[in-house]
Amino acid sequence: MLELTDIEAGYGRTRVLHGVTVPAGKVVAVLGHNGAGKTTLLRLAIGLIKPTKGRVLFDGEDITSLAPNRRVARGMAYVPQGQQSFGQLTTLENLQLVADGRRNGKALIDAQLARFPALEQFATRKAGLLSGGQRQQLAIARALITQPRLLILDEPTEGIQPTIVAEIEQTIMQLAEEGMHVLLVEQHIGFALQAAERYVVLASGFVTQTGVGGMAATSTVRAAMAI
Ligand SMILES: Nc1ncnc2c1ncn2[C@@H]1O[C@H](COP(=O)(O)OP(=O)(O)O)[C@@H](O)[C@H]1O
Ligand SMILES: [Mg+2]
Repeated sequence: MLELTDIEAGYGRTRVLHGVTVPAGKVVAVLGHNGAGKTTLLRLAIGLIKPTKGRVLFDGEDITSLAPNRRVARGMAYVPQGQQSFGQLTTLENLQLVADGRRNGKALIDAQLARFPALEQFATRKAGLLSGGQRQQLAIARALITQPRLLILDEPTEGIQPTIVAEIEQTIMQLAEEGMHVLLVEQHIGFALQAAERYVVLASGFVTQTGVGGMAATSTVRAAMAI
């Protein structure tokens, strides 16, 4: 699946990532404090940022210079941080934006409405009027309509009410069970490690720790992050 090796990247002359390697895995968690470079790493994974050094591999193939839309066509999907949607469009219209032009567009939308009952309930509501958690579900649903094999999630539970956090966590576990690969940035370390096969801790753009996921890794990671 996705593998990043020895990545250097940043914005203009500011280098943010320093020799970052992320192993392949079913669910891979990227952990780290604010400003560590997690979002930059995900933008790089989907192709919005190009590395100045290092390689991005997908299915063993070098995709370092492949454009984001080509990466999506190959089976990658990206859900950016911050529950983004088109606020003036309804829930359904947000989904149609991605589904239109796809052969089985309606079935793809229906599958996501079945997965997320709240979206079905508020299908005709403007996305801007949904709760943060519902908007996050909408963003995930939109990504899933592209039928990815790898879902890249940037802090999917950030700033969301606890009841919906649990739902979103369940969705991620369910997707993993269905065979989806996930690259997950998450502040809830307990959940991230529970879901993850492998994890990477970033600090100031350096990998400070990496290992096999599972609840047992929680104390090691907390100690490494000094929390
Ligand atoms: N568009 C940008 N231009 C310049 N610097 C940026 C930009 N986005 C992020 N940064 C800087 O890159 C570093 C890592 O940010 P980011 O990847 O967003 O970290 P995280 O997601 O871990 O909080 C921070 O120092 C941040 O200020
Ligand atoms: Mg971030």
